[in-house]
Amino acid sequence: MANNNTLFIGKVLQRYSSLVSTNATAKELLSKSSPIEGTVISASFQTAGKGQIGSNWESAPDSNLLLSIILYPNIAAFQTFELNIFLSLAVRNWAREWIPQPVEVKWPNDIMVNNQKLAGLLIQNSFQGSKLQYSILGIGINVNQAQFETYNPPATSLRLLANTEFDLETLEQSLFASIEQYYLKLKQGKINQLRTEYLSHLWNFRQAAIFQPANGNPFRGMISGIDKQGKLLIQTADEERAFGMKEVKLVRNEK
Ligand code: BTN
Repeated sequence: MANNNTLFIGKVLQRYSSLVSTNATAKELLSKSSPIEGTVISASFQTAGKGQIGSNWESAPDSNLLLSIILYPNIAAFQTFELNIFLSLAVRNWAREWIPQPVEVKWPNDIMVNNQKLAGLLIQNSFQGSKLQYSILGIGINVNQAQFETYNPPATSLRLLANTEFDLETLEQSLFASIEQYYLKLKQGKINQLRTEYLSHLWNFRQAAIFQPANGNPFRGMISGIDKQGKLLIQTADEERAFGMKEVKLVRNEK
């Protein structure tokens, strides 16, 4: 299907039936050419899809959206969390068009519905000094898959949530439009607006909970924000603590 609803995202679209990982193919393409901004690599199946921090991304064949988008954001290394913000919001907002349930963003960038994971994002950046050279936005969205292995958090799909099957190409086109719309907001310098929107959809924002840090004892607190580097801020009775990826887990909510 020709993509006529965007200016640059998905104008060049390389579709594959099977790849090791769309992020890996995007990286390979970048190593031997200069793909135009918005180039998309999409696959119906991945033999070794990558997840966050060395995990795998499992997806049944021909069922889900698995794609990577190449961007050249004009931002410095210390600003890269802005990419997580805009992309999470773009996918969250897009998902709301297709399902009636509230959709939340679990920091840093899991897309959640009813405490189940609908989509995962893997942003891989390459730097030249302190400047971002390119960014690969890897996006995995569970669409028509109806059965999942036991994951933590458990997985869900649009089909399970809406009780209907979806046309993947139609979804892909509207996803590109949402991503472009949010990327343009970032480019227009609307990061404060995006941060506010991100917090308004943040999973467990300002909810009292028990947290387990990777090092140390469990503690009581509530998610209070995200700092400029993208660390998760948790307010306790006497201080605000900042955590990087995988440095803390929410164990349970407090009544
Ligand atoms: C996560 O762990 O939540 C991130 C998952 C990201 C999965 C997507 S699927 C398309 C792209 N290619 C990959 O190998 N990974 C990302």
